Amino acid sequence: MVVAKLAELPAGQAVIDAVGNDASVWLVGGAVRDLMLDRTPTEIDLVVEGPLDELLERLGGEARRFERFGTATVLLGEVRVDLASARTETYAQPGALPEVAPADLENDLRRRDFSVNAIAVRISDGELKADPAALADLEQGTLRVLTQHSFLDDPTRLWRCARYSTRLGFNVDPQTKSLAAAATAGAISGERIGDELRLALREPQPTAVFAAVEELNPAALPEGFCPAPQGLDEALELLGDEGRSELLTLAACCKGVELDLLTRWLDYLGFSADERDLVAIGSRWVTAAPLRNAQTPAQIAAAASGAPIEAVALCGGDNARRWLEQLRFVELEIGGDDLLAAGAQPGPAIGAGLSYALELTLNGEISGAQKQLEAALKRCGEAAQ
Ligand code: CTP
Repeated sequence: MVVAKLAELPAGQAVIDAVGNDASVWLVGGAVRDLMLDRTPTEIDLVVEGPLDELLERLGGEARRFERFGTATVLLGEVRVDLASARTETYAQPGALPEVAPADLENDLRRRDFSVNAIAVRISDGELKADPAALADLEQGTLRVLTQHSFLDDPTRLWRCARYSTRLGFNVDPQTKSLAAAATAGAISGERIGDELRLALREPQPTAVFAAVEELNPAALPEGFCPAPQGLDEALELLGDEGRSELLTLAACCKGVELDLLTRWLDYLGFSADERDLVAIGSRWVTAAPLRNAQTPAQIAAAASGAPIEAVALCGGDNARRWLEQLRFVELEIGGDDLLAAGAQPGPAIGAGLSYALELTLNGEISGAQKQLEAALKRCGEAAQ
């Protein structure tokens, strides 16, 4: 049944053909889970009991290999196929990257995060192997870790738990909940948590994932973080397809996080300086009054120009809408050269003249190059006196 569903996925039949009657290749993890739930997997995960070389050759496509972990990724058209040699993982210290050693499939399944991800189907004949709780958990919609130390081994699993429970609508088993509540970040790198945060932001309901993280273990989020910020839907609608909606969402959730703590947290998570600044500015802009209080288009422009569009969208309200939909596209038809050509003296008065002409244009008092030039020259002359 699972192999038949695999055949219907883009690149699914190509994978089945490449495997042929090789009994060492298993479909595993999220791909099996999603196919059994009649969902479309985001990628195809394969485990090979043995080396990857032959299968990689038969698959063709562009492969990237990660020797340390015995894994590889192949792109077949748009579809990502992840391959791994069956392995065990041991953690030198909680949260560290694992030491890996070759193993059989049963042991490979035991190292995994949740029972519903510990299911494998052999591609050549459809044989199924799974953690003993896996099929019932899949049926009942339960997320259950496989060992007591699962979250200590790999603290990113807290975030994975929140993502899966939100996306799949699954409940977290009570014992798993208490293990999650006791988990700490251990020696995990901030970048790995940052990767999880980014994945959460790409989910259809990122704020629901944050709420799930908070419920599982509030210490995983900085003090003041709000998973259900007011005005977020309006801000996302205002932003539309432009800009960084995921950073806007994060900024909205971080309104209550003290600025110094927020920037340190974003640095720790491996956000770039540009991303960090955008989130920081966006999160503060929510309380900025000048845009909301602006009475004229020129005042709206004075309040909003120079700010990232995400920050303006977060401000919300009619003025933000007017700026984003209309006013930010208003431009002068003249430039400094036109003023110089018309006899104005070089210097700061040129800038003052152009600003004045733009103000009048925004307010609808003048339009067209000629009127703009006249207004700018007049102000230029005044400013130069
Ligand atoms: N896995 C794990 N612990 C982790 C990461 C991954 O046990 N910290 C295992 C799980 O069995 C998972 C598989 O590796 O199913 C593949 O990882 P990934 O692609 O991240 O998980 P998917 O379940 O495929 O996630 P998604 O549906 O979000 O792509």
